[in-house]
Amino acid sequence: MNRIEQFNHDINQSDLNRYENWKIYRNQLSRFFDDAIKSLKIDQNRCLVLGAGNCDDIDLKNLKSKFNHINLSDIDIESMKQGITRQDLKLDDFTLVKADFTGFQDILFFENLLDDLLIMKTSHKIESYLKDKTKLALSNSFVENYTQTYDVIFITPIYTQLIYHQTLKISEVLKEMEYNKKLIAIFEQTMLELMPSIINQFNENVASLLDVNGLVIILSDIFQSQKNDTFNQQIIQSIQSIEAMDQLYQKYNETYGYGLGDFGLMSMSNIMKELKHEWLIWPFDQKINMTIKAVIYTK
Ligand SMILES: C[S@@+](CC[C@H](N)C(=O)[O-])C[C@H]1O[C@@H](n2cnc3c(N)ncnc32)[C@H](O)[C@@H]1O
Repeated sequence: MNRIEQFNHDINQSDLNRYENWKIYRNQLSRFFDDAIKSLKIDQNRCLVLGAGNCDDIDLKNLKSKFNHINLSDIDIESMKQGITRQDLKLDDFTLVKADFTGFQDILFFENLLDDLLIMKTSHKIESYLKDKTKLALSNSFVENYTQTYDVIFITPIYTQLIYHQTLKISEVLKEMEYNKKLIAIFEQTMLELMPSIINQFNENVASLLDVNGLVIILSDIFQSQKNDTFNQQIIQSIQSIEAMDQLYQKYNETYGYGLGDFGLMSMSNIMKELKHEWLIWPFDQKINMTIKAVIYTK
């Protein structure tokens, strides 16, 4: 397995109870998805799922009843295969595409990163190295993996998962190796600053895979809360009302600023037209809830 695949595969395999534990959330998503595609004026032929992973958040039977052709894509192909079997379906009911949505795998970014950083001694060198690598990575488009466009593109929470998360693991290794603290901070800061261009490129690529009358449905993780904290209680009390959640979101952003999950949606709103949104609670694990903003876009 390549580095990005291995990293994500380990996360995807870290909790095998998710399919059971996410049942209510999965049903809520199916309802949101079914409502969204009701407005489609064309024959519902082709659906592309990006970030399918274990498919624990997708009711594949429901999806199959709605589309003639379904393409499931992720860098972690093994988890997609297990996810299909877990839902008692056959692999050839779907087209599976192993793709890296960022272009960083093609340039072997994580294969070389640690060794390359260890010989760099100035902030300037690190900054220009990361900028050059990002430019090179973004010249590879994952769109090449697909020979057709889609009526519906469904994106499960991915903005917070692309690249940055994995670079923080490299930071941890650098800290253990007692690498210069200031240079580690520069490394993290530069990667964070590069994320908007990586996310924008991903969104542009998604838009280019959509049919003229199609829909993009995006799930983005916005808040993370401990199940026993007061913020989590506030979310639970507000979740049924889009207005109350929008207010909570605004207040949160005024205090803490925007994260990658917000940025992904803001970037897509500059590329496509937002039709509707809703808020959902994703019971991520025993201790943590994620709050998801689910948004429907059209061209
Ligand atoms: C939070 S998970 C989404 C949940 C998933 N649908 C499930 O039920 O397991 C994000 C997914 O994005 C995938 N991913 C992360 N970085 C990727 C990349 N660069 N290219 C393609 N897929 C990536 C991961 O493998 C993971 O399956």
